Parts: sequence; structure tokens; C-alpha cells
Amino acid sequence: MRAICPGSFDPVTYGHLDIIDRARLLFDEVIVAVGRNSTKKYLFTPDERQEMLIDACAARPGVTVVQLDGLLVDFCREQGCDVIVKGLRFAGDFEFELQMAQMNHALTGIETVLLPTAARWASLSSTIIREVASLGGDVSEFVPAAVNTLINTTIARRKEEGS
Ligand code: PNS
Repeated sequence: MRAICPGSFDPVTYGHLDIIDRARLLFDEVIVAVGRNSTKKYLFTPDERQEMLIDACAARPGVTVVQLDGLLVDFCREQGCDVIVKGLRFAGDFEFELQMAQMNHALTGIETVLLPTAARWASLSSTIIREVASLGGDVSEFVPAAVNTLINTTIARRKEEGS
């Protein structure tokens, strides 16, 4: 079976990679889809988010990283994805993920598998990573080294640009 792990990945964290690795154990192929949530403002461009994931997944056979434009369920139909895999950290995630899973199922009948995040990464989010890093905190424990470097250079550049 072919699974899709969609997300914003702004930036990818060890929490995301844990879900991708566990999806690899359950499914033959995993497509990681860099999508857009229209309510969010992103630090990284879609190309940068995809590049970070390609690098992070280079040693993960069976994983393909793509960009997602438009509706997730349309992409799943085009690419023959059988199931959507998402991580669940806490109750707040559940409410949002349930809503999306029910909508996606209503649209095309696709199923969603919600994997509980490993306890170690349960309080991790890309939003917190961006917040801490932008205030000068060290986030190297939570993201791959190349991602850490990119976060720091991007934040420094944005500060120089005054944005
Ligand atoms: O990491 P995020 O921000 O929770 O990821 C959300 C994402 C990108 C997976 C979601 O917004 C999505 O599926 N976007 C694609 C557009 C779409 O199909 N929206 C309707 C979802 S019911």
C-alpha cells in the first residue's frame, strides 16, 4: 500500500521524521507531501521545505518527497495513495485532524491513519521551533543539523531584511 504523509513541515522536525519512519514500517511506499494550510504564514518557501525533507529522507528508502498544490484528496487519487498518515500529539491535534480526516473521507472515501506521536516529541511543533529559534534559542536537539543551519541563516537574513 502507498501512504501519504502530508504537512506544512515549516520546518521538518524529528517529530515529523518519527511519524514518517513509523509509516514506512506499516506501508510499502510513503509519499511525503509538502502542503499549504491557507491559515498559516510560513517561514520557508515550498521549495525550501521540500529540499529540507529530501535531505532528511535521503537515507530512508521508499520515501518520496513532493509538493502538494490544491486538494490533498485529488493528489491522492492522481498518485494512487491508499491512505493518509498523520501524527497526533495531544487532544487539540485530534479535533483538527478528525475534522480533516472526516472531510477527506467524505470527498473521496480515503482513510486516514492517526499515529500517536512518540512521547519524546509530543510537545514539539514547527511553530515552537520557529519561535524559539527566532529569539536566539538552540533548537538543534529537535531538528536535523542541516535544518538547524537553514533555520538560523534564514532567521538572520529575515532580521537583516527587517521582515
Ligand atoms: O502540518 P499542517 O499545517 O497541519 O498540514 C496541513 C495540511 C497541509 C496537511 C493540510 O492543510 C492539507 O491537507 N492541505 C492541502 C489542501 C487541502 O486538501 N485542504 C483541505 C483539508 S480537509
